[in-house]
Amino acid sequence: MHNMNKVKMLEFPQLGDERGHLVIAEAMKDVPFEIKRVFYIYGSDADVVRGQHANKETEFVLINVAGKSKVKVKDGEGNEAIYCLNRPHTGVYLPTMIWKDMYDFSDDSVLLVLASTHYNPDEYIRNYDEFVKVISEDMD
Ligand code: TYD
Repeated sequence: MHNMNKVKMLEFPQLGDERGHLVIAEAMKDVPFEIKRVFYIYGSDADVVRGQHANKETEFVLINVAGKSKVKVKDGEGNEAIYCLNRPHTGVYLPTMIWKDMYDFSDDSVLLVLASTHYNPDEYIRNYDEFVKVISEDMD
């Protein structure tokens, strides 16, 4: 449960005017870490499930800057929650060591991801059973 409590929706400041919308996500202010990496996911079919991993070192913020998707998070202790990302000025914060599945992508979905680290494949746990094992060891 300890990591589940850290997952939270974030609302970003909007400074739109008659020219259109402007949303701000500033490190250590709107986003609770220093942003080291940005990537974005689009063109995923509605039946695709992405993610399916936990990260030992990386924190993320996921924002659907266009369209919609869902994120299911699991803490490896039997708790899960689903977050709907469907507004450009909201995101979900994901701490380290939380399992995540991204799915239900709309055709127009552009999922922007802010990450606290540079990419390192070695800090990914891509096997759910291994994730549960590491979580249970951490709790000892
Ligand atoms: P993957 O982790 O499967 O994406 P998702 O979490 O959305 O399911 O990444 C897809 C590929 O891209 C994989 O070969 C690793 C590579 N990749 C990088 O090289 N750098 C990155 O920052 C990310 C997120 C992925």
